[in-house]
Amino acid sequence: MTPLVDPFGRAITYLRVSVTDRCDLRCVYCMSERMRFLPRPELLSIEELDRLCAAFVARGVRRLRFTGGEPLVRRGFIDLLKGVGRRLGRGLDEITVTTNGVQLAEFAEDLFRAGVRRVNVSVDSLDRETFKRIARRDRLPQVLEGIDAAERAGLKIKINTVALKHDNAHELPDLVRWAHGRGFDITFIETMPLGEIDEDRTDQFLSLTSVREDMASYWRLTDLPDRTGGPARYVRVEETGGRLGFITPMTHNFCEGCSRVRLTCTGKLYLCLGHEAAMDLREPLRASADDALLHETIDAAILLRPKGHDFQIERMSKPATARHMSVTGG
Ligand code: GTP
Ligand code: 5AD
Ligand code: SF4
Repeated sequence: MTPLVDPFGRAITYLRVSVTDRCDLRCVYCMSERMRFLPRPELLSIEELDRLCAAFVARGVRRLRFTGGEPLVRRGFIDLLKGVGRRLGRGLDEITVTTNGVQLAEFAEDLFRAGVRRVNVSVDSLDRETFKRIARRDRLPQVLEGIDAAERAGLKIKINTVALKHDNAHELPDLVRWAHGRGFDITFIETMPLGEIDEDRTDQFLSLTSVREDMASYWRLTDLPDRTGGPARYVRVEETGGRLGFITPMTHNFCEGCSRVRLTCTGKLYLCLGHEAAMDLREPLRASADDALLHETIDAAILLRPKGHDFQIERMSKPATARHMSVTGG
């Protein structure tokens, strides 16, 4: 099978799969309180998701990351992981999961058994009230229990924190100390203009360039060459000994080396997080039990891959795409 290479010569080796657009939180920068989720019949079945993942692995995808929405709210998710996990070492190098941690206490061991070794857990605040305000749900204790359980299960943990000017800016150094104290990497993320939410994102946007400058005034930050295949650029905080990542889609364009494409829970393949360019794979998938048409469609899709996204801070108040991060899976 021919490997996937886009029109700009970038090999596609990483697939992010959103298994559901649903979530048990309602983070203010991500969703509106009264979010309308997709009708269930629109979703790919677990078997269809498995077949699609296999098709991409056959075409050279070596890493799969499952996201949502919240992947752990999808029924059958662990079965999907078990199925996909059988391809580890046979073309597939790694399976990872991005979760909000709410149900991690229940599922951590299942994840490990299915072959997952790393999870990314979103924690925007360690203060219960602030967490509740950001996530619109009072779930910090469950998330912290989930993290403990993941650690016990042997999973390597990375913390994701969306930097928000009013809600958690003052807390960012504490989050770093906490994560590094526990031996976790932590990554800060700038808010991206994806989908309508209830507030104006411009108001919450916090440039990580300024966060970094601020931290450099009291910590020694050493640039690291480390790449996880993701957009994060890492530094070591010499005082804590831990790794701190910055994902700055709004202030730094990192598209040149991007190896990733994204599959939504309805079977649409998006060629870039910040673009509308997409191709439906559900129809060719359902059209025949043979994968020939599916592979033809994947080839056609890769040709649509744009050079990069064009998020702009000035246009932050209007979404760059109508779809929410929870549909494309970040
Ligand atoms: P690794 O696979 O460990 O590198 O994880 P990751 O940091 O890419 O994944 P995670 O699911 O934790 O995502 C963290 C944040 O990075 C999310 O907000 C994603 O939306 C964002 N992100 C991931 N990939 C891209 C990308 O290609 N472009 C942009 N703009 N943001 C991305
Ligand atoms: N901008 C930036 N980050 C977002 N996330 C969800 N929506 C957005 C957005 N609009 C984050 C989550 C999670 C990660 C996968 O993406 O907090 O950590
Ligand atoms: Fe759910 Fe993640 Fe969106 Fe928060 S950011 S509402 S946890 S999908």
